[in-house]
Amino acid sequence: MLVLAVETSCDDTAAALLDGPDVLSERVSRQTVHDGLGGVVPELASRMHLEVLPGMVDSIVSEAGTTLAGVDTFAASAGPGLVGALLVGLSWAKAAAFAAGARFLAINHIASHLMVLWPGEDVRFPAVALIASGGHTALFLMRSWMDAELLGATRDDAAGEAFDKTAKMIGLGYPGGAALDRLADSGDPRAVRLPVPLGDPGIPEFSFSGLKTAVRLEWERGAAAEDIAASFRSVVAGTLAAKTLEQASAHGALTVMAAGGVSANSSLRAALADGCGSSGRRLLLPEPGLATDNAVMVGRAAAAVLHHDPDARSSMSANAFARMSGRRLHPLAAG
Ligand code: KG4
Ligand code: ZN
Repeated sequence: MLVLAVETSCDDTAAALLDGPDVLSERVSRQTVHDGLGGVVPELASRMHLEVLPGMVDSIVSEAGTTLAGVDTFAASAGPGLVGALLVGLSWAKAAAFAAGARFLAINHIASHLMVLWPGEDVRFPAVALIASGGHTALFLMRSWMDAELLGATRDDAAGEAFDKTAKMIGLGYPGGAALDRLADSGDPRAVRLPVPLGDPGIPEFSFSGLKTAVRLEWERGAAAEDIAASFRSVVAGTLAAKTLEQASAHGALTVMAAGGVSANSSLRAALADGCGSSGRRLLLPEPGLATDNAVMVGRAAAAVLHHDPDARSSMSANAFARMSGRRLHPLAAG
């Protein structure tokens, strides 16, 4: 069962070929065209996807020693994300499926961050899952791989966005979450005091926008970049981990999962491992290379859907969408 998956929701162009959950070949190309522009420029992102995607697909298909005619299912992220950027991958997958007489699946980007962990090994439910990326930060209660219910989300900035804004302020470029994580290793988290927003671990919601002002004041006061980085990482990773672990205990979760770009963060990983170790919960984290946007996650989401429902398919009129609505998260896209 060959799945060809593409992901073009933001500024990474990605394609992957999977046989069930197993990756045969994959590529991710980060767009550098936005560097120095202070953020992702949507029109430039769409144009770069158009330029890069066809050649990337050719490479992964020939690397796996097959052709597009051998693909059973074409899957693409449909949202949430930048609509113009999403349309490039989505339209490509629809056209390829139509031409090959194959199945087409429109995949939810947020759910797919989590589905990169599928099938795991002997995963027991219920599980509490944290999704923390550049665009989203939310906690879900999962009763199965196909049933996730929103517990709470950020009230303002996403955790990755907060990492990126702080990184930019202290001169680490964009997106600077990973660079900040590295710099923090050489700083002292106690040298700079930052507020812990919505600190009560019992509230399954986050708020990171207030940290910006506190960081700016410390930066203007002359605090060292590595100390700001260490304190910021400690506050944000500590809050994410505390709230995830608190929800896991409140809902009797047997498993804890984290996914999305910020789940690559070393402090967050350590704090979740600590908490799960002492409470006897199983912890599932993506390999760091599969935490940020990639197409393996889209392919695994598609493979998981087909594992649970071999007749599943999406309509050729499935559209791209910018935001998610509703409290249920399913790998098949819904705006
Ligand atoms: O999941 P992702 O690739 O894109 C979205 O769907 O948004 O996440 C990207 C985000 C960026 O904000 C990036 O700075 C952050 O993940 N990130 C990190 C780390 N690696 C990536 N944040 C903190 N620590 C890291 N090690
Ligand atoms: Zn993402």
